[in-house]
Amino acid sequence: MSEQSPGLDRDEVGQALVPRQQIEEVVESTPIVDTRPNFSDFAGLDQEISQLKEFGAIFNNAELAQQWDVEVPTGLLLCGPGGVGKTELVRAFSKEIDAELLEVAVSDVQSMWVGKSNEQLKEVFQEARLADSKVVVFFDELDGLFSKNAGGNSGVSTALISELKTILSQLRVKQPNTIVAASTNSLSGFDEALLRPGRFDVVLQISKPNDSARASIFGSYISRKYDLYNLGEVGVDSRAGGTIDLPSLAAATEGMTGADIKAILHSARTKRLMAHIQRGVELTAVTQDDILLAIRHHRQQRPNATD
Ligand SMILES: Nc1ncnc2c1ncn2[C@@H]1O[C@H](COP(=O)(O)OP(=O)(O)O)[C@@H](O)[C@H]1O
Ligand SMILES: [Mg+2]
Repeated sequence: MSEQSPGLDRDEVGQALVPRQQIEEVVESTPIVDTRPNFSDFAGLDQEISQLKEFGAIFNNAELAQQWDVEVPTGLLLCGPGGVGKTELVRAFSKEIDAELLEVAVSDVQSMWVGKSNEQLKEVFQEARLADSKVVVFFDELDGLFSKNAGGNSGVSTALISELKTILSQLRVKQPNTIVAASTNSLSGFDEALLRPGRFDVVLQISKPNDSARASIFGSYISRKYDLYNLGEVGVDSRAGGTIDLPSLAAATEGMTGADIKAILHSARTKRLMAHIQRGVELTAVTQDDILLAIRHHRQQRPNATD
């Protein structure tokens, strides 16, 4: 086979493809679609979002903060039940502070061999350190991995925890471009030493949304999808597709999360669409009754939603 000339990519039979430089130019000029949400996409989480903004502002003004003797935080831990927005909030946070997001699957660092787990953990932070931007290293669904008595695997866990403590303690000095974030369902059993200042210094407890938060989440999703409705302060609008009454939707979804509400609206919309496609029913906005019906179905399918 002929020698490959520098700067040219060739296929298996050695034919020259597009010059590499040209490919790189195309790649560079192709905008990468950022699928991360914005803070404005969330509803009912104002306090949590303002804490995240504060974290980001201090991190982005670290020198000034240090001059003022204000501690620059290292790690962010989000704790709460499934579906309350933990994962998406961290993604939005990384976007807000203009950082890259390095998501680490817990299984990536969980290994049968203690030494290997630690190596993998070090590699993740090494990758972040070498990045030429800010980086949020995100351990999603951390549950169990860093607890003191992780089911039977305590050898792995103890070694990992001590490695993580070391990394976190040195992070601000060694790689000031990196923030660590993690999410977990529960803090019970979580090694408290990881929660000391300079490690996970900011802990956000996110509970299931209360009545007014659920009304806001409904309102935000409904008005984002249909500008037919103009849901003002009171959350009621009786035009176009009928009456939408947010307080009563909130009352019907006691115990549910943002994820439940999103799924409910999705199923109500799907139903309308199917009626249109299969039976030629005119495609109009979902109504209060559509949504209430979808809520009932959702409860039947997921009786635990009220836990
Ligand atoms: N308060 C909220 N406002 C808007 N969307 C929400 C809210 N809470 C959850 N969601 C949506 O529900 C879905 C699940 O959220 P996710 O971040 O995966 O939850 P968690 O990580 O806590 O299980 C996402 O699409 C998210 O945008
Ligand atoms: Mg999640």
